[in-house]
Amino acid sequence: MKVIRERFLVKRKDSSRDGEMDVIRKRACRRTKRPFQHPPPPPPPPVTALQRLFSTCRGVFKGPGTVPHPHDVHALQFILDRIKPEDVGLSRDLLFFKANNIIKGTPSITTTTIYQCKNFSMCIFFLPPTGVIPLHNHPGMTVFSKLLLGSMHIKAYDLVDPKDDETPSSQLRLARLKVDSEFTAPCDTSVLYPNQGGNIHTFTARTACAVLDILGPPYSSEDGRDSTYYRDFPYAPHLVADVGAPDTETKERESTLAWLEEIEIPKELKMDVVEYLGPQVNESC
Ligand SMILES: [Fe+2]
Repeated sequence: MKVIRERFLVKRKDSSRDGEMDVIRKRACRRTKRPFQHPPPPPPPPVTALQRLFSTCRGVFKGPGTVPHPHDVHALQFILDRIKPEDVGLSRDLLFFKANNIIKGTPSITTTTIYQCKNFSMCIFFLPPTGVIPLHNHPGMTVFSKLLLGSMHIKAYDLVDPKDDETPSSQLRLARLKVDSEFTAPCDTSVLYPNQGGNIHTFTARTACAVLDILGPPYSSEDGRDSTYYRDFPYAPHLVADVGAPDTETKERESTLAWLEEIEIPKELKMDVVEYLGPQVNESC
């Protein structure tokens, strides 16, 4: 009786092992019958610096008649301070920057637009050595300027109200000098506002330069935001009246003042517009 039970147990073990094999075989069969599964999609490409700049601009510029909140200004400055020439497809090897590409006479300024909508525009200005963008204003605009390549001199004014007997001519506007310095890339972003920060400025290239400008809102002759050009003159109170010898306070005030005369677009200013061929921005992001 004992022997029979052992044999029986052995038989049960064998059969259960067979059963396991069956399960394994069935599982193997199921695997081969599974439908083909596509590999997981690749991760999205990293957000480029230009795309980050574009997305931030869309949040910062609310349209004509508005000035960005100081917090937004800092956010945009932070991004622009870190933008590199390569982020907009620039290189020192561009033909533009080769010395033999500079024609004699007044050098042409070249500009290209990365993006423009009713709230803001993103443009690059290229200046060859000695190239000048004359004194011009930015009506109702907030403008971020980031020097990407080269060295330039920037001079910028804000209009101020003259004293009652101070204006020698209705053609002249009194202005205070806000910036009069050399800038060499890489350097921090400068910001000007509709009524402060040097809204009227001129660029003079010391070497070949590239400047990235963010304008909010952009120029628009239809909406009364065309640029006006100026010529500056030293502030000379003796032309107005016999004011006598100035005291220290008056001297300090006068040292930063100038007269600005509105002029037609300078004939020597040549502005060539070229297509932007650098990295693109994605409006759907
Ligand atoms: Fe400008």
